[in-house]
Amino acid sequence: MEAINKILRENNQEHLIKYLEKVDNDKKEKLIKEIENIDFEQLKELYQTSTRNIDKAIEGVIIEHVPFVDKYKLEEDKYKSIEKIGIDTIKAGKYAVVTMAGGQGTRLGHNGPKGTFKLEIKPEAKYLFQIIAENLQRENEKYNIILPWYIMTSTENNEKTVEFFEEHNYFGYSKENVMFFNQANLPLLSEKGKILIDENYDLKLASDGNGSIFKSMKKEGVLDDMRKRGVQWIFIGAVDNALLNMCDPILLGLTIQDNNEIGSKSVVKANPHERVGVFCKKDNKPAVIEYTELPEEMAEETDEEGELLFGESHIMCNLFSLRALEKIAEQKLPYHSAHKKANYIDENGNLVKATKPNAYKYEAFIFDGFNYFDNISILRGRREEDFAPIKNAEGIDSPETAIKLYNSYWKL
Ligand code: UD1
Repeated sequence: MEAINKILRENNQEHLIKYLEKVDNDKKEKLIKEIENIDFEQLKELYQTSTRNIDKAIEGVIIEHVPFVDKYKLEEDKYKSIEKIGIDTIKAGKYAVVTMAGGQGTRLGHNGPKGTFKLEIKPEAKYLFQIIAENLQRENEKYNIILPWYIMTSTENNEKTVEFFEEHNYFGYSKENVMFFNQANLPLLSEKGKILIDENYDLKLASDGNGSIFKSMKKEGVLDDMRKRGVQWIFIGAVDNALLNMCDPILLGLTIQDNNEIGSKSVVKANPHERVGVFCKKDNKPAVIEYTELPEEMAEETDEEGELLFGESHIMCNLFSLRALEKIAEQKLPYHSAHKKANYIDENGNLVKATKPNAYKYEAFIFDGFNYFDNISILRGRREEDFAPIKNAEGIDSPETAIKLYNSYWKL
């Protein structure tokens, strides 16, 4: 206890001593283990960035437009040759798919992992995980292969996700080719930089953003598994896009032909304020500026033809070589802070229900991994073929809008 109290005092977290005094021995042991696992230096650095003004995210950085290739403006010969490179690579068993499903899905308001949300599409409603599993099976049949499928979960939703797959018999996918792995967590901090405690007297932790995928894949043996299976190209996509094309030979072929290690699909931004990240070059390196960090005047800037200057949306449809994943896994990606509502237990043991943002959450972003390469192949697709996001319970990017896009794409 002495040692732990000392660590807490030295790191300005001595309020936690009070909680340790309140709980029984089992809980105390668990809390102590959690505290021992905290990287306090990192937490201090993170807290210092919490209140950073969004303009600072791009302050002093040269931001430029990034070139892209329009899938439907490629000449027929070029299209065919690129397609062949992609198809040959997939058929040779060098391609794998990762689904990121570690998010909390707070905006959707669904009780459970987001992939277990049922979308009322025609002719019958399907779970988001089911849509992905069936799409992958269609690709398997087309190419006569079995794509290794990796699913990133959080410690919060891992058990429920695996149970869900077991209950549904993996939606017919071969179980030995579905691998789950967990991403990491970080503590939530109060506005004063104090670690919060949740209703169960555990540290209030949250998954640390989808950019944590690189380190998690390394730590959890995913990269080793890929290497053993002979995988060389990895598609990483979100769980919450009902039209996500996980196996586009044009994106793969283009990236290989361009001699790049990373590729990504984009669609034209629907309007200046759509909640999507936009592609650009930051100090001459490929990058995405997230919608939460894009200054208004940049979002609205247009070229001579009236098109948005930063109008290529990141739709979380990303491709990496295995080498690229291994390289990024060695780097320290930056964390971005978000001001969020968090319920917690105060020092008197009372539950505090947040009515307004009262805590900071820190997240790494997957696209910050692009920064370690000189170039990226960006393939502009079509919204109606590639992007049906399910983010909110109602209105824009909701199940209702995704169902319409899905039914219309599949002509249902
Ligand atoms: C994300 C993108 C944004 C893009 C938009 C397209 C990031 C940081 N932002 O925004 O650029 O335009 O999608 O729809 O990538 N996830 C995890 N672990 C986490 C957090 C998220 O696995 O800790 C997964 C989610 O399960 C989901 C995906 O990442 O599959 C996107 O998550 P979310 O945080 O909701 O992203 P958006 O804010 O919508």
